Amino acid sequence: HAGAAEFVPDSHDLDDLSSAARVCRGCDLYRDADQTVFGAGRPGSTIMFVGEQPGDQEDRAGEPFVGPAGRLFDRALEAAGIDRETTYVTNAVKHFKFTRAAGRKRRIHEKPNRGEVVACRPWLLAELDAVSPSIVVCLGATAAQALLGTGFRLTKHRGERFDLGADGEVGPDHAETVVATVHPSSILRGPAERREQAFDAFVADLRVVRDLAR
Ligand code: URA
Ligand code: SF4
Repeated sequence: HAGAAEFVPDSHDLDDLSSAARVCRGCDLYRDADQTVFGAGRPGSTIMFVGEQPGDQEDRAGEPFVGPAGRLFDRALEAAGIDRETTYVTNAVKHFKFTRAAGRKRRIHEKPNRGEVVACRPWLLAELDAVSPSIVVCLGATAAQALLGTGFRLTKHRGERFDLGADGEVGPDHAETVVATVHPSSILRGPAERREQAFDAFVADLRVVRDLAR
């Protein structure tokens, strides 16, 4: 597989893009997943959120961030005063990658590798062009590295502003401001006694985003 590029139509229309993405075979991940989970939201949104990849429930529903991580994300957005309906939400990788423990039905999330992230990136760039947000928020290291390069360290640069300018990996067409924060799943997976604090820190990052978007 040579990546998604040959499947991406020359269009800035989100419906055209998402229809075409349904039949993408840019990497092996389409084989086991139920369906492509494309981004959702409005073209012209000021804020675009980029997660890692759909999870089990997203794969079933065909919509990004509708499972447990999505519910935490919704609560955080509400606490930060951001209306999800006015944003665009997508993932760095559009198919669910998982393993099954031997003999079990439950599907366990597996992190996409660099090759899969690179293979899927043409969709993300097409969404950036189509939505044309002024702020891109990377939820977690996978999204941040997809847009800012593999050298990006979330622990070091969380909450900082970057410009996707001429020398960025993404190229000169994308001049948006990029901010990276944690992935909502990391809060769910973290130790229970630190969950509230981690949630509050996530909300604090989202408030910075809200203020930048004004
Ligand atoms: N995690 C993600 O990164 N994206 C989703 O859509 C759901 C969970
Ligand atoms: Fe295509 Fe991305 Fe799915 Fe791979 S993960 S098949 S590149 S849409």
